[in-house]
Amino acid sequence: MVLFFPYRFTPSKKGCLFIRPKGCNGFYMKTIRKVSHLKEELNRHRKDGKTIGFVPTMGALHPGHMSLLGTAKAENDLLVCSIFVNPIQFNEEGDLDAYPRPLEQDQRLLLEQGCHILFLPGEGEMYPDKPRERYDFGRLDKVMEGEYRPGHFNGVAIVVHRLLKMVAPHRAYFGEKDFQQLQVINKLVEMTGLGTRIVAVPTSREADGLARSSRNARLTPEQRKAAPLIYKVLKEAKDRYLGFTNPKQLEKWATEVISSNVHLRPQYVRVVDINSLEKIEQWTDNERCILCVAVFAGDVRLIDNMRLFNK
Ligand code: PAF
Repeated sequence: MVLFFPYRFTPSKKGCLFIRPKGCNGFYMKTIRKVSHLKEELNRHRKDGKTIGFVPTMGALHPGHMSLLGTAKAENDLLVCSIFVNPIQFNEEGDLDAYPRPLEQDQRLLLEQGCHILFLPGEGEMYPDKPRERYDFGRLDKVMEGEYRPGHFNGVAIVVHRLLKMVAPHRAYFGEKDFQQLQVINKLVEMTGLGTRIVAVPTSREADGLARSSRNARLTPEQRKAAPLIYKVLKEAKDRYLGFTNPKQLEKWATEVISSNVHLRPQYVRVVDINSLEKIEQWTDNERCILCVAVFAGDVRLIDNMRLFNK
C-alpha cells in the first residue's frame, strides 16, 4: 500500500483501515472490506441515533462525486461511501479492464470530503456466488440506454440492491446525469420496499457546461473542446422547445447540430416522459418531458439530459 503524505494509515485489530490526516486530531476515515464488519460498525452508530447517508460509486472520484458526497454529508450524521467496480454492469470486457482504479487518490479525496466510512468490498464479498437476480422494471430499463446496453441496468440493480441491504442507509444519493439509472433505482426501492430514501442530486458541470464524468478524462483535447456543444444544444432546446412543431422536430434539430461537429456522433436524442421514459409524440401529450442524449466523442460515450419544463 502506498502511503500518502500527509495521511497516516493505521490498521486495526479487526481488519479495518483507519486513515487520519496529520494534524487533524480525532477524525478518522475507516476503510472496511467485510460486510460483517460494516454491519457491526453501522449498527453501533444506528444505536446512537445517527442518520446514515450513503453514496455508492465505482471509484475514480471526480467533482461530480464530491457534489453527491457534499450533499450527503450536509444531510446526515454519518457519511458512508462505497467503491466497487461492478463487473456485471459492463457490456464489454475491455471497458471493465480499462476502468480506472486510483484507490489511494480516491481515499484522499474521501477523507478531505469528511467521509467517515469507505466500504471497499472485493468481488468475493459482493458476489460469493454467481448473481442470478432478474428484476422486472417493465420498459423502464429497455429504452434509451437499455437499447444499447442490454443487461446493464439489471447489473446496476443487483449491486445497488445488495449495497442498500448491506448499508441500510437513511438516504442514498445518485446523480441526475444518469437519469435513467436514477429512475430504475427509484423503481427498485419501490418494488423491494427498502426503507432508504433516494435523493437525486443535480448534474455537476464544468464551467463550459460539460457534465462531469470519469469518462471526460479520456477525451482528446479536440474532443474535450467539442463536447460542451452537447450542453449548449440541451440548453437551447429548453429555451425554445415549444417553437418546434413536435418533439420529433426538436430531436432532428438537436441531432443535426450535434453531428455538425466532426468530433461528435449522437447515438440517440430523445424527448421522453420524465417518469415512464416513454417517447413523447406531441407537446400536449405530457408537460413533464426531458431531453436525453447519448453522444460519442471518438470511442468515449457521453450522456446528458435536460428537463424541458421548469421544476
Ligand atoms: O453510477 C455509478 O457509479 C454506478 O452505476 C453505481 C450506482 C455505483 C452502481 O455500480
